[in-house]
Amino acid sequence: MTKERILVTSALPYANGPLHVGHAIGAYIPADVYTRYHRLKGDEILFICGTDEHGTPIAVTAEQEGISPQEVVDKYYRIIKKAFSDLGISFDNFSRTSRKIHYELSQKFFLNILENGFIYKKIVERPYCPRCKRFLPDRYVKGTCPYCGSNDERGDQCEACGKQLEPHELKEPYCAICREIPEMKETEHWFFRLSEFSERLREWISGNRHWPDNARNFCLAWIKEGLKDRAITRDLDWGIPVPIKGSKGKVLYVWFDAPIGYISATKEWALGINKENEWKKYWCNKAKIVHFIGKDNIPFHAVIWPAMLLAHGNFNLPWQISSNEYLTLEGRKMSTSRGWILWLHNCLEEFEPDALRYYLLSINPERHDADFSLREFQHRVNNELIATFGNFIHRSLIFIEKKGSVIPKIKEFDGLDEEMLEFIRESPGRVGRNLEKFRFLDALRELMNLAHHGNEYFQKKEPWKNENSSTLYLCANLCRTLAILCEPFLPFTAEKIWKTLNLEGSVHDQDWNAASELGVKEGHKIGKVEVLFKRIEDEEIEDFESKFLKLKLREGKEKMEYIEFDEFEKLDIRIGRIKGVRDHPRADKLYLLNVDLGSLGERQLVAGIKEAYKKEELIGKDIVVVANLKPVKLRGQKSEGMLLAADVDGKPVLLTIDKGVKPGTKIR
Ligand code: 2FM
Ligand code: ZN
Repeated sequence: MTKERILVTSALPYANGPLHVGHAIGAYIPADVYTRYHRLKGDEILFICGTDEHGTPIAVTAEQEGISPQEVVDKYYRIIKKAFSDLGISFDNFSRTSRKIHYELSQKFFLNILENGFIYKKIVERPYCPRCKRFLPDRYVKGTCPYCGSNDERGDQCEACGKQLEPHELKEPYCAICREIPEMKETEHWFFRLSEFSERLREWISGNRHWPDNARNFCLAWIKEGLKDRAITRDLDWGIPVPIKGSKGKVLYVWFDAPIGYISATKEWALGINKENEWKKYWCNKAKIVHFIGKDNIPFHAVIWPAMLLAHGNFNLPWQISSNEYLTLEGRKMSTSRGWILWLHNCLEEFEPDALRYYLLSINPERHDADFSLREFQHRVNNELIATFGNFIHRSLIFIEKKGSVIPKIKEFDGLDEEMLEFIRESPGRVGRNLEKFRFLDALRELMNLAHHGNEYFQKKEPWKNENSSTLYLCANLCRTLAILCEPFLPFTAEKIWKTLNLEGSVHDQDWNAASELGVKEGHKIGKVEVLFKRIEDEEIEDFESKFLKLKLREGKEKMEYIEFDEFEKLDIRIGRIKGVRDHPRADKLYLLNVDLGSLGERQLVAGIKEAYKKEELIGKDIVVVANLKPVKLRGQKSEGMLLAADVDGKPVLLTIDKGVKPGTKIR
């Protein structure tokens, strides 16, 4: 088979804070699985990333913490890099956009597009804070989204509807630093002629039939609305200076320089291996470029970045954009300010990286949002990863160890053995076909199926009763198959199994398709068997929870953010009567409630109250419901509103009503 040449990139994380578990599964773990798989297949694959060190988020953080932006990015570059390495993310190069190579390339890129006629200069009016005495680019200004009306959105992108914004488009704007209302003031900026690329982008995107529907449709709809030219410079000190004389105080917009970081990081990699021009193989010759991103980054990677590449010429366009949805934490949106967040580095201090990789991949938000629950993490690790995967390998190898650690000579194969042989033969294809198509959930399921099948085989063959040489031989071989096939998902475990099997070299250098072979020979001696995974005990989860999840709530007085009366008035709060309660089919902690809301009819609510209430306690109860919350799907089930409950040490206590009130009654 011909070998492919692939460049994999993961979104460059902003170096203005640590990474949380949502980031990890958003754009990094799936990219690592994909890369490791292709490496094992022998493809020419390169995995590139680095920190995104410019832009207003970093400038704002620095300002708030009273340190310089450089200090901010230096600190977080180290933290982020270490977390990735502890998690086993196998970048070929992890760079930084503050490096010289990146400055030079970004400025050259700008000048090249300018020369090609796709950049022009224009005097525009931009929000200016009279108190801070400066322009307010991007996140320096907040206000109401002109498209969906969501409040407190930042000037670069609306979190609620995903639309790209320009700071001056916000309604009722205010300065993010001092809350002063900005005035409009003239300033000169450079614009990218994005509008000129509408037709070419439309054709290219419609032709990308292999793209997921979500990305393709989002982009086509945006193009249909009409692409507008975009300012690609900002009035800011922090960033890459506009490479034109007389443009002091103007820097390139962070979203202009960040994706160029994919190229500069590839160049840096090439220099690192002393093959200066090797990067061109990926960017200028035939190669597939695959961007792994979170869904909020789709507009930049699927529309703006390709337009920049077209404007520049000579570079490959992305071949695939794999974007994940969001991750909530115990049913709620993660929030740094409220301390409701799971930092990756904290998780890695307490738990094994492969346990975390396994759990995150098992809930990979590839089709819809997913929820991280610590109890479910514990449950899946103990009852799936250990009970199925770990168990098969451990019991097989321990059995062989007890028999003297030597793989016996086979006498003959029976029907069950033949079935197992077939299974081993087909396994690389089963897992691999899913990975080729970016179906990580299905790929992991196939892998676990193999282990499950191994357990069934062991059980049926009862090697403890019959001296059956073929069973031990095939079990040892299935362990080897599993070691290779689990390498992309569980790289640390894979190597442990490989070493225990006492096979030559490293599992990371094996051939994916050779997982179908019987590579553990008769007479081979295996190594000392050790426990593969550590069970996660209740106390560990409880300790972790109290140490990391409620930290902020305990720290002194909480910060209060005031809202206006008209914001409060928007809430439609009603009395609802619980008519029915069912278990959520895919979540241990959630119920599906049928709630009568009077004139609004009956609705389904997904509620995380299972630990605190029995079903029979809930039926007939009158509760308080926010009825006009946008319906969402929670783990595949529609939730059309939110019930209100007090948070008593993490346990919900329902709000009810004092006297008999009809369902649907409004609360004011
Ligand atoms: O959203 C983010 O975290 C950005 N820093 C991603 C940049 S991706 C790329 F273009 F570099
Ligand atoms: Zn201000």
